[in-house]
Amino acid sequence: MKSYKEIYEIVKNTLSEYRFFHSQCVANRCVELASIYQVDKDAAKLVGIVHDMAKEMLPEEKVKYCKENHLEIDEIEKDNVGLLHGKIAADIAKKQFGFSEDLCSPIRYHTTGKEDMSLLDKILYVADMTSEDRKFENKEYIINLGNKDLDECVKYILKEGIHLRIAKNKKIHLNSVKALNFFME
Ligand SMILES: [Fe+2]
Ligand SMILES: [Fe+2]
Repeated sequence: MKSYKEIYEIVKNTLSEYRFFHSQCVANRCVELASIYQVDKDAAKLVGIVHDMAKEMLPEEKVKYCKENHLEIDEIEKDNVGLLHGKIAADIAKKQFGFSEDLCSPIRYHTTGKEDMSLLDKILYVADMTSEDRKFENKEYIINLGNKDLDECVKYILKEGIHLRIAKNKKIHLNSVKALNFFME
């Protein structure tokens, strides 16, 4: 597997300054959450820095990458190609950085969530919303929730995300619905 330093440089050279700053903030927040929930901090930092590395590919590049690498594009993703950046980054992490499935999964699902998320899946999901660079109204509340109850925080973010998409008259990815149903049990 490539070292953090090598991966950091590759991601830095792939993304705009703005997006790389976000990635660094997410990596830092991943480490914070990893220390609270006693998860490997190095693993958390790696998934944080890599998670958005495919975000700035053009829509046609995303579709091309998926076709060439045999990544499935479902109906919702066809409508919302942006969602593909999670699975593309996970594929790059696996093939080019040598990430294990445990590390690929949080990256793959950070855009939608999924049923039965691992601790690291949840950490990246929450870190992506509560990183230093994010600015929104009830941020303090979500940060505190993330620090004291990770499951409740994932559930909260899923609900907010789904509400927002309904308000915008946009389709909901099935993985988000499955993820929320899982937390409703
Ligand atoms: Fe993302
Ligand atoms: Fe992100």
